[in-house]
Amino acid sequence: MALSSVWDRDIERVLLSRVEIDHLTTRIAALLDRDYAKAERVLLLGILKGSVVFMGDLMKKMTIPVEIDFMKVSSYTSGTESSGRINILLDLNRRDLSMCDVIVIEDIIDSGRTLSYLVDYLKLNGAHSVRTCTLLDKPSRRVVDFTPDYVGTLIPDEFVVGYGLDYAEQYRTLPYIGILKPEIYTKKK
Ligand code: IMP
Ligand code: MG
Repeated sequence: MALSSVWDRDIERVLLSRVEIDHLTTRIAALLDRDYAKAERVLLLGILKGSVVFMGDLMKKMTIPVEIDFMKVSSYTSGTESSGRINILLDLNRRDLSMCDVIVIEDIIDSGRTLSYLVDYLKLNGAHSVRTCTLLDKPSRRVVDFTPDYVGTLIPDEFVVGYGLDYAEQYRTLPYIGILKPEIYTKKK
């Protein structure tokens, strides 16, 4: 692969090329088109910031009418351990949630805490239906029992960046998904 970004040098190896990602998003878009063909009001709910690139590609490939919205959440961490508490930084401000079939769009599932919390939250707030869609899933990292409805692909327990995913807010703009060289996060810590 030709070098295209100064960030390429921090990548140990490419896990998913832009072509491979393109196939995954095409497949998921077709599934969503099929499953929601009869739905009245479909809301793609992107979780900022990691999901924006994936969601952008996905929505362009879908052919059924959908609305889009965003929430921003953060999970508190103390040291290297996630405390498991989810903080809503940007809430969904809609009065019509009870009419919406919500598809939560995530970049990656790790412990499962974020999506499991959000599904409960959206149901409590009266969403007509809630399903979850993630590009990547690291099932070996699960802390809470959670199974997403739509998954691009399972990946091993490696720290990945690119295509929306970051390390310390960097690398989100890389067009592929790569495994970050461990020396980057040990150096910058
Ligand atoms: P969890 O499933 O609640 O543990 O959180 C998933 C979130 O953790 C994702 O939305 C990402 O922001 C972040 N995350 C988990 N694994 C990675 C990774 O390998 N690279 C970048 N972000 C990650
Ligand atoms: Mg995220």
